[in-house]
Amino acid sequence: MSDLFRDKAAEWDTRPVPLQISEGVFAAMTRHVPLDPGATVMDFGAGTGLVAGRIAPLVSSIVAVDVSPAMLEQLAKKPELAGKVEIVCQNLLEVPLGREVELVVSAMAMHHVEDTRALVRTLYAHLAPGGRVALADLDAEDGTFHAPGTVGVFHAGFERGALGSLLEEAGFVDVAFHDACEVIKEERRYPIFLVTARRPA
Ligand SMILES: C[S@@+](CC[C@H](N)C(=O)[O-])C[C@H]1O[C@@H](n2cnc3c(N)ncnc32)[C@H](O)[C@@H]1O
Repeated sequence: MSDLFRDKAAEWDTRPVPLQISEGVFAAMTRHVPLDPGATVMDFGAGTGLVAGRIAPLVSSIVAVDVSPAMLEQLAKKPELAGKVEIVCQNLLEVPLGREVELVVSAMAMHHVEDTRALVRTLYAHLAPGGRVALADLDAEDGTFHAPGTVGVFHAGFERGALGSLLEEAGFVDVAFHDACEVIKEERRYPIFLVTARRPA
């Protein structure tokens, strides 16, 4: 698979939009999901670690999962993740991790995965009983968030009702949507949700 983020990785952390989003999403996570000091947390689509780096001091360890070697190369350099992170460059929908975590977080990665039903089932399968997800992405938008023709973008955001149904269908309970933040790009406003849900114990 080609690395669609290869040319973006080195300067990803200097871009105002990912910086704003990761800050807003992390703040929403702290409000809406327990960050347990003993927990192992998977960051799905961790990228350069903008969210993982903020969560790391609050939990036991992070499993940073991504399919982009270039983004993970940047993540591996971060001192805030040193000694706390396991880096996994693999598509979990094809090759599961083979063990469970207490919490799965994700920021802006779901719209890069074509089959959302398969994705939420995969995340459920990676959770220990009682474990939770906290997944952030764009609310349904008009397709202008990404430049026309951007490869690897499969969803122009998500309808909350439809995504909530997919989570419930996968077995999740306590599905709740929260307004995480809003990002302004070329004078347009794009709201971002955080959906939290739990695998029954
Ligand atoms: C928009 S970036 C967001 C990165 C990071 N979460 C952040 O907030 O800065 C999306 C990330 O999802 C990753 N991604 C896309 N498809 C994936 C998949 N199937 N499994 C894991 N990561 C994936 C990309 O490689 C990229 O690093």
